[in-house]
Amino acid sequence: MDTLTQYAYIISAALFIFGLKQLSSPATARRGNAISSLGMLVAIVATLLDQDIVDFQWIVIGMAVGGIIGGSAARLVQMTKMPEMVALFNGFGGMASLLVGWAAFAFRPDAGTFTLITIILSILIGGVTFTGSMIAYGKLSERISSAALTFNGQQVVNSLVVLGIVASSVMFCLEPNNSGWLFWVIGLSLLFGVMVVIPIGGADMPVVISLLNSYSGLAACAAGFAVDNNILIVAGALVGASGIILTQVMCKAMNRSLSNVLFSGFGSGKSDTTEVEGEIKPIIAEDAFYILEAATTVAIIPGYGMAVAQAQHVVKELAELLEKNGAEVSFGIHPVAGRMPGHMNVLLAEADVPYDQLLEMDEINPRMENVDVAIVIGANDVVNPAARESESSPIYGMPVINVDQARTVFVLKRSMASGFAGIENPLFYKENTRMLFGDAKESIAGLVREFS
Ligand code: TAP
Repeated sequence: MDTLTQYAYIISAALFIFGLKQLSSPATARRGNAISSLGMLVAIVATLLDQDIVDFQWIVIGMAVGGIIGGSAARLVQMTKMPEMVALFNGFGGMASLLVGWAAFAFRPDAGTFTLITIILSILIGGVTFTGSMIAYGKLSERISSAALTFNGQQVVNSLVVLGIVASSVMFCLEPNNSGWLFWVIGLSLLFGVMVVIPIGGADMPVVISLLNSYSGLAACAAGFAVDNNILIVAGALVGASGIILTQVMCKAMNRSLSNVLFSGFGSGKSDTTEVEGEIKPIIAEDAFYILEAATTVAIIPGYGMAVAQAQHVVKELAELLEKNGAEVSFGIHPVAGRMPGHMNVLLAEADVPYDQLLEMDEINPRMENVDVAIVIGANDVVNPAARESESSPIYGMPVINVDQARTVFVLKRSMASGFAGIENPLFYKENTRMLFGDAKESIAGLVREFS
């Protein structure tokens, strides 16, 4: 039976890895998700068939209740609220690892030092992940203030908490019969999760959530060692590694280091002294139509505002009309456009925009000089030329989509308000830029009406 279970685990691990690989392209992502889910099903079934862990009917009831809650939450959640949902899932994953670690200790009082260390790690990382994720959820959903919360002596308090965790962990390994130490580790790690996330501003939460996702994987991996379960070790390691890679990708695309995100608040206080020249030139849909009608290459660059306006369906309609009119249409996708990784890909996939029209920043930038019209839909920071041109800009050095190099740029937004980074955008004042003010969905619908 044990050999069969291990074979099932190998199949399940292979399905996880294959599924993860497929998640890296929008064209195969859905299949990747399904394959990984199948891997999880194989792992669960194999584990339950092999071991008499708890009364079977409790697990069936748990799976049914969890499945109903998870399934309906995933169906009901709005796409813009997805990071909050991921935060909750990470948090519960962390709590699960904490409980597994604790139970492992309760059921294996004679555990050796190595097992005790893995128990401590799954409790510690799981606890930090749980409360850290709950604070991240609270900040993102604005149930608590999303501002960075700092106070005098914060570093000292944090250092004391870390010292307390290390000391009680060591004491627990030395005196496993004194379960008081374990409660200290649990309490202090829950406190530490709160302490590490409160000084981070709500706007940086997506990066923090990706990092907590990685932690939830590491906690599961440690829990896998604690209960001696190979597939939990493998799955936890995969989540831990992919979470940290995603965190790095996000930081790189924002041109910030992880320590800058975690410890210093946005831009480490660097103020924006970018000077803008030129004037704002508004345009109305009727006039924009004439320019678009004559265009042979059009690049559409979506950003957070497209998500807010839910304009993806009407954007797809406009793209089809432009193609019918003989233009070549492509979409330029910046890695941190919107508020979560893959935000634009998900929205455009929902509207059935063909994947081969989606170009990454490195693919679209070399073509930008040959683009007749670049239509910027609710994007701001990710098309800000100050990132290239103004050394005093807080986002200087961040890779952006060079829409200003197109012959004409239409910027669709409601006002002159800044984006996430809260800084001036010289693009709006450039000679070749026209501002089409209004809600993105309504502005695009106006263009569609002109074409129709
Ligand atoms: P932003 O720079 O945040 O700009 C969005 C723009 O959309 C705003 O200037 C806003 O201007 C406009 N807008 C909002 N609602 C609109 C509507 N209904 N219709 C039309 N326009 C609307 O967005 P971006 O260019 O996508 O950049 C993303 C930012 O988020 C970057 O700074 C990035 O570093 C940061 N960030 C991203 C992530 C991920 S993973 N994506 C994670 C953390 C941080 P108005 O108010 O004038 O309309």
